Order: sequence, then C-alpha cells, then structure tokens
Amino acid sequence: MNPTIFATATEPSKSTIVLAFFAPEKTDSEEAGYRTPVYKGKSEKTISDLIKKLDATEHFFGKRGETTLLRFVPTLGYANTIALGLGPSKAWGPDVARQAGASLYHIQKKERLLTMAVALDCILNDSHTDAETLQAFCEGYLLGSYEYTELKKVDKHRFHPKGMHLVAPKGSDAKQAIDRSKVIADAVNFARFLGDRPANYMTPTEMGKQVEKMSKTVGLKCTVWGRNQIEKEKMGLFLGVAAGSIEEPKLIQMEYQGGKKGDRPIVLIGKGVTFDSGGISLKPAARMEDMKYDMMGAAAVIGAMQAIAGLKPSVNVLGIVVATENLPDAKAQKPGDVAVSMSGKTVEIINTDAEGRLILADALEYAQKREPQAMIDFATLTGAVLDALGKVASGIMGNHMGLIDRIKHSAEATGERVWQLPLFEEYMEDLQSQVADIKNAGIREAGSSKGGTFLKFFVDSKYPWVHCDIAGTSYHRKDLSYHPSKFGSGVMVRLVAHMVENWKPL
Ligand code: BES
Ligand code: MN
Ligand code: ZN
Repeated sequence: MNPTIFATATEPSKSTIVLAFFAPEKTDSEEAGYRTPVYKGKSEKTISDLIKKLDATEHFFGKRGETTLLRFVPTLGYANTIALGLGPSKAWGPDVARQAGASLYHIQKKERLLTMAVALDCILNDSHTDAETLQAFCEGYLLGSYEYTELKKVDKHRFHPKGMHLVAPKGSDAKQAIDRSKVIADAVNFARFLGDRPANYMTPTEMGKQVEKMSKTVGLKCTVWGRNQIEKEKMGLFLGVAAGSIEEPKLIQMEYQGGKKGDRPIVLIGKGVTFDSGGISLKPAARMEDMKYDMMGAAAVIGAMQAIAGLKPSVNVLGIVVATENLPDAKAQKPGDVAVSMSGKTVEIINTDAEGRLILADALEYAQKREPQAMIDFATLTGAVLDALGKVASGIMGNHMGLIDRIKHSAEATGERVWQLPLFEEYMEDLQSQVADIKNAGIREAGSSKGGTFLKFFVDSKYPWVHCDIAGTSYHRKDLSYHPSKFGSGVMVRLVAHMVENWKPL
C-alpha cells in the first residue's frame, strides 16, 4: 500500500511528468492578475510550449501547494504533465519542499495516476544543500500518503498510487536521500498509526506488543513490564492512575546502543494514556473520542526510537513509555486521595484528570536511576497549551537552557515548531497541599506551566531535563499538507531524530 520512490532515469510508461514552478515576485508597479510562474529547470522546446499553454489559460500561478494536471499535454516525451507550485523562491527551503512532496502525492491520488516521473532539476536549485531538500521532498510525499484504513471493511477498492520516479540530475546523491526519507517517514507513520487505532485496539498490552515487534525488526532491545514489576518498583503514582481500569498498565522500554557501553544515555519519556476519560473527575462527552490520542507522547518516543535505530547515530538512547488507561472504575483513585510516588514524595490527587503528570513523575524518577546525560518527556499534558499556542507549536519548558536550545535548533531544522513557556517559582504556590508534599492540580491559570512545575518537583536539578507538551500539535492538524487533518500527526519524531543525530555532550 505504501508508495515507493524510485531513483530511475525515466518512468517506463512515460505517462506523466511533473514540473515544478516558483511563484513570480510581485513588483509594486505591476497590476494584480496573472503572472507567469517561474521555471528554474533546464530549458527545452516542449517546456517553453508548456509555459505558453499555462500563460494562455492563466489558471496556474505557482503558489505553494498548487497543483494542476494537464492531460494530453506532452512534455519531455511524456503524455501528460503536472505543474506543481513551490511558492515564492524567497521562502523556499526544506519544509516547503516537504509540503510540495505531500501536495504532489495528493494530486497523484486524486487523478488516479499509478506512477509519475518528477523532473528534479527544477526543484534542486536553492540555497540549502540538494540532499537535504530532496530528503524533505521525499518525506513529504511519503508522509502525505498516510491514511488509517485498517478497520474500513466495506470500501476495499480504493485507489493507491504505486509511487514516483525521480529523474535525478547528475551528481545529486538521490539514493541516500530517498533511503533516509523512508526511515523517517516510516517512523512518523508508525507513530500516527499507534494513535489512530481506537483505544479498544490500542490498549497498553497491545502497545507493548507493537513495540516488541518493531524493536525486533529494527534491532532495538525491548522490555515490557506489567503490573507486578511496576508494583515491585513502587511506582505508586502510575499504579494509582491505572487502578481505575481493568487493562493492565505497561512500562515499555526500548534501548539503542550507538555509543560506548557505559556512556550515559539520552532518555526519552512518553505519556502513553491509551484512553483518558478523566477518571472520577470525568470529562464532558463532547470530543471525548479524541482522547484515544492521549498516548501521542508515547507514540513520539516509539517513532523516534524506530528512526534512531535506522539512522544509527553514535550515542546511547533509552526510550521509556508509561502506558495505562484513565478510567472511573470501582477501584479508581478519587479526588482527595493521596498517592505515594516511586521517589517517596506524596501527592494529593485533586483532579483525577491531571493523570499525565502523575505517571510521568514516576517515569522521570525511574529514568534518573540511569544517570541520563539529558532527559526529555513528551506528553499530551494540558488543554491549556492549545489555548496558548494553538495547533502550530508545541510548548517546551525545562531546567537547562543548553538542552532547550538544542531542541529549538532541531525545531528550526525540521519545521516542527516549539515555543518555550516559563517555569517560574511562583507557580509552585498553587500546587501546595495541606496533607501531602504536592497536589496534582491548581487553578486554571498558566495550566501548561503548572503541569511542567509539577514534573519539575520530581526532577533532580543535576539532570538536564525538558518537558514537551504536544496536546495541541499531535493530532488533527490542518496547517500543513504533509499532516493528515483527520489523523495523528506523529509530531516530534523528526525533531528528536534530528537532535539525536547531531548530538554532542551538553
Ligand atoms: N489529556 C489531557 C490533556 C489534553 C486536553 C490533551 C485536550 C489533548 C487535548 C490531560 O490529561 C488533562 O486532562 N489535563 C487537564 C489538567 C487539569 C485537570 C489540571 C486539562 O488540561 O484540563
Ligand atoms: Mn486527563
Ligand atoms: Zn491525559
């Protein structure tokens, strides 16, 4: 079902060729209206004929994401031509290339073209290195092809493109860029799949099985612990959340060893609440079905570990996922209950719907036993981050500016936007409990920072740590063509892979 990218010189059937165009610059003196899109590839008679035809019809502007199929308009020996818009050349870069790749897949599918050839010389001529742009373009194509269809049983005969042939210019290292894009896109699409599966098909137990299978395929060491082991580790906050469900909680670990044996690992921690009903502090019914995505932090960690195994950087990385449901059964914890964390610190449960921070606090404590050189947790932690940043950026906060800068840098490089939120001391005042060491929820104000402040209470300041709140960015995104608007986004897989690949000790 997944399309394939071929680096062949031509597409054998010579059916369709893709040519890309930049949008023309606007000058103040010009009147509004049609302007000829800019072609930056090799010139040829059939191409100038095509441009004349585009000019005559005046309906293709070269805007970002714009595509048009010109059937029976032959170019470069192909029967049909697709014009692909790249937007203004000033804004061109890897993320625009990624968007172009996705737009191309979308028109290929819509027009039911099994294969097509892409003339790369009109794309690879920008200020970024060719390999980076080509990789991003291929990533976009593969990411754009993602759909979750496993449970569609009636409509079996939907059309799926076979792939595209890249007509590579001489000297461009197309093969490696394609291979890297496949490693990345497969990992992101796996993260999406984990989230898109309904909660009755993606229980903590099933997630454990999925991770075991993936780990075997890519060569990661994987262990999955059930309730007994979690009890032995005295992870009282994790167990407290799991108490309301009949599904067994799982602590899932994936280990990648690219560095020396004793080298301190980078630890990635993911919130894996496979369904968040809120527990006894029950959520309202509207959109509660979206809470199957409350494990996208876990999905980010799992996808990132898969990508890391494929890219093989020289550093040790440990992925930890805490997976459980949050349900209001007879044994569920109640508001006012006090739970004892793995660290021994006690927590008054004010709101059972603030469950993510509880399971993460135990995961952070567990991670610290490995003396991490850095630890980053990923979680759909607060609705408040959506109020602050919308669906276009994830909230980050932490105790180490160097690590925050690394994440910001990788965010720039991958187009996965982040925005730093503060962890002011004052936020702690609202989390003071009368009966325990801390309480798990306060008043609404600064909700994301308070979630982060709760986690910070469990972090030893000698470990560089960042918390990344992806409640807004991890599903149903409509802002970028390579994200499916009705599915999970798989956000943070690409950012983490980039950061780990370029890792230097802090
Ligand atoms: N999983 C939710 C956060 C969430 C909200 C994710 C919307 C995705 C979309 C989390 O467990 C939660 O319920 N947080 C509460 C915390 C509050 C009770 C302190 C929230 O944000 O309201
Ligand atoms: Mn919740
Ligand atoms: Zn939650």
